[in-house]
Amino acid sequence: MSATAKKRAPMPDDIRARKGGEPLVSLTAYTTQMAELMDAHCDFVLVGDSVGMVLHGLPSTLGVTMEMMIMHGQAVARGLSSAMMVVDMPFGSYEESPQQAFRNAARIMSETGAAAVKLEGGVTMAETIAFLVARGIPVMAHIGLTPQSINTLGGYKVQGRGDAGDALLADAQAVSEAGAFAVVLEKVPATLADTVTAAVAIPTIGIGASAGCDGQILVVDDMIGLFTAFKAKFVKRYANLGADAEAAFAEYAREVRAREFPAVEHLFADTLPEKNK
Ligand code: KIV
Repeated sequence: MSATAKKRAPMPDDIRARKGGEPLVSLTAYTTQMAELMDAHCDFVLVGDSVGMVLHGLPSTLGVTMEMMIMHGQAVARGLSSAMMVVDMPFGSYEESPQQAFRNAARIMSETGAAAVKLEGGVTMAETIAFLVARGIPVMAHIGLTPQSINTLGGYKVQGRGDAGDALLADAQAVSEAGAFAVVLEKVPATLADTVTAAVAIPTIGIGASAGCDGQILVVDDMIGLFTAFKAKFVKRYANLGADAEAAFAEYAREVRAREFPAVEHLFADTLPEKNK
């Protein structure tokens, strides 16, 4: 699909059908403007709970609320016409029971127009995924490094190394069998990501995983250099907008202090030019 050809937004089943085909392209977005800029280039856009760290300055994703996800979901929806929108379920909104998950997922979908929700967890969330899918809620799963569990994982470490690889494979199989239409693999060894991709029936979406995954996702502010608090090894910077913005702010401050801005072309005369009368 060329970046300029107009396409209808895919549905979760279209994403599932891309298993083994042309790699799926995805980024996170949190605002209308970013969504508009990436719409033609992505198959799906994730309103990730990374919004808490990226836009709200939170130390982790644990403080993200349903209200934040809904507000950012609504903003992103206004900027998309050809990419599918998935919205993250925030920490504490789905783990208690399948019923709690359904209530909150239904609210996210009805208030944002998302085509699907994403939730973190493998074997332990399989029952909830099956419950949601049976009731009309498409689910993208997220396994490997699951940032909502950093306190039990002991930090943002690579997951599935050595013997832990079997458990990660079991997680992937469980979410696939439960009916998830795709699964995000975050921060896992490349060989394990390839094994999982070959083993499961649904597309794997890698972030710090392998080029052999069925698709890739990155956090938008990481890849355009706007979020510079830290850079994970798996992030490639495609632009340095943070540095460009800071240089613009410094130049603006210098010009204001030197009375160079505003210049004549930015000012209004007190009479209209003859031709506009
Ligand atoms: O919240 C997020 O941005 C995510 C991606 C890293 C997959 O879950």
